[in-house]
Amino acid sequence: MKLVVIGTGYVGLVSGACFADMGHNVVCVDKVASKIKTLEDGGIPIYEPGLDEVVLRNRKAGRLLFTTSLKDALKDAQAVLLAVGTPTDELSGRADLKYVFAATKEVAENIEKPVVVITKSTVPVGTGAKVLEILHKTRPELLCEVASNPEFLREGSAVQDFMKPDRVIIGAQSEHTKNIMQMLYSKMIGEGTPVLFTNIATAELIKYASNAFLAMKIAYANEVADICEGVGADVDLVIKGMGMDGRIGNKYMQPGPGYGGSCFPKDTMALTHIATDAGHPTKIIEAVINANDLRKENMAKKVISACGGSVKGKEIAVLGLTFKANTDDMRYSPSLVIIPELIKAGAKIRAFDPVGMEEAKKELCNSERDDNLQFCSSTNEALKNSDAAVILTEWQEFKELDLMAAKKLLRELVLVDLRNLLDGNKAVSLGYKYVSIGR
Ligand code: UDX
Repeated sequence: MKLVVIGTGYVGLVSGACFADMGHNVVCVDKVASKIKTLEDGGIPIYEPGLDEVVLRNRKAGRLLFTTSLKDALKDAQAVLLAVGTPTDELSGRADLKYVFAATKEVAENIEKPVVVITKSTVPVGTGAKVLEILHKTRPELLCEVASNPEFLREGSAVQDFMKPDRVIIGAQSEHTKNIMQMLYSKMIGEGTPVLFTNIATAELIKYASNAFLAMKIAYANEVADICEGVGADVDLVIKGMGMDGRIGNKYMQPGPGYGGSCFPKDTMALTHIATDAGHPTKIIEAVINANDLRKENMAKKVISACGGSVKGKEIAVLGLTFKANTDDMRYSPSLVIIPELIKAGAKIRAFDPVGMEEAKKELCNSERDDNLQFCSSTNEALKNSDAAVILTEWQEFKELDLMAAKKLLRELVLVDLRNLLDGNKAVSLGYKYVSIGR
């Protein structure tokens, strides 16, 4: 099949490369010329393990092309995948769909034959219908169709998630569209991947309902962890015990400093709007959002309390800045709340992240706090002469932290492990004050 992918961000690039790997001819289009140049030069504009290999393999095979010209790309295309950004509008808190609609209009203006336009970006329920309306209004003579094909890619394992998904969700309005989508996924379908065909609104909602459910599990695990601390229970075992019940499962139950990233915060917020618009406001997801916001603030308080009730004038090593490991993404990262709170309380931060330093500097640098925020080039540099070390992200490097060696670097042996990565008994036996979550 010939597929055009619009948007070479996270979702677009992974989808384009993986569809090419499944044997399709894919052209990825982006308006940002520098991104296309990077890709054409063999670079990858995002950090995603394994993606470079897939891109390289398929470029070599001639199945994956990059261009800034949508018009050229659309020649003979059977399907167009929309993977443009849907940022949250700051005023309304709703997904801003201007890029989705602009791309749709541009597609309609530049096609010679009907195409199926597939929404892969996370879009509010009802967007598919609006995309269809734009296509029909702009080119009434071409009977274009739309499909909704939500993505469930986790950063850091997006290629694997794409190639071996638990399920593929396809919202389609006609047999023709279904056939096109079946062709697109024929390799996976042949390998036995479950596919669920629905109408478009249903597919759109599955994405939000799934992500909000996962966010809810995490927020609940975080609350259970707090209760554990109050009653002297061990959250690791509580979660293990709960997870042994097949109805509950143990995935997305790891307590931590609060969820972040490009999806959960945005999708939970969007679902509250979708629910309110539908006349059925969601009490549960609103509570999840509030609990998660509060969680991040409470984690700053936890650090302060571990430091004896005050961090004034103290140097604190913050290990891990990205919202999770194996990504350089800083969006809604707990570090964006915890670090400013600690600085407000008088701390000086020595921050280090194995991959996210560049992104972190963009997000965290701010003239008001720069004097109190030092970016370090290694874990050891961050630890040096610090009065406490705080683990915020579950990078392998921190899991393997040499507690013996760290003793020689730290001024005070205070270790706050907000991901429960380390062996607490070992830390205590080495003389550390070790504070973790729910234990
Ligand atoms: C998520 C969804 O998983 C994916 O299906 C979707 O389409 C995009 O959003 P992603 O944001 O990449 O993926 O990260 P994910 O691994 O799901 O983690 C999200 C956040 O939850 C992170 O901040 C992570 O640290 C946190 N988390 C996750 C926990 O705190 N505990 C867990 O048990 C799992």
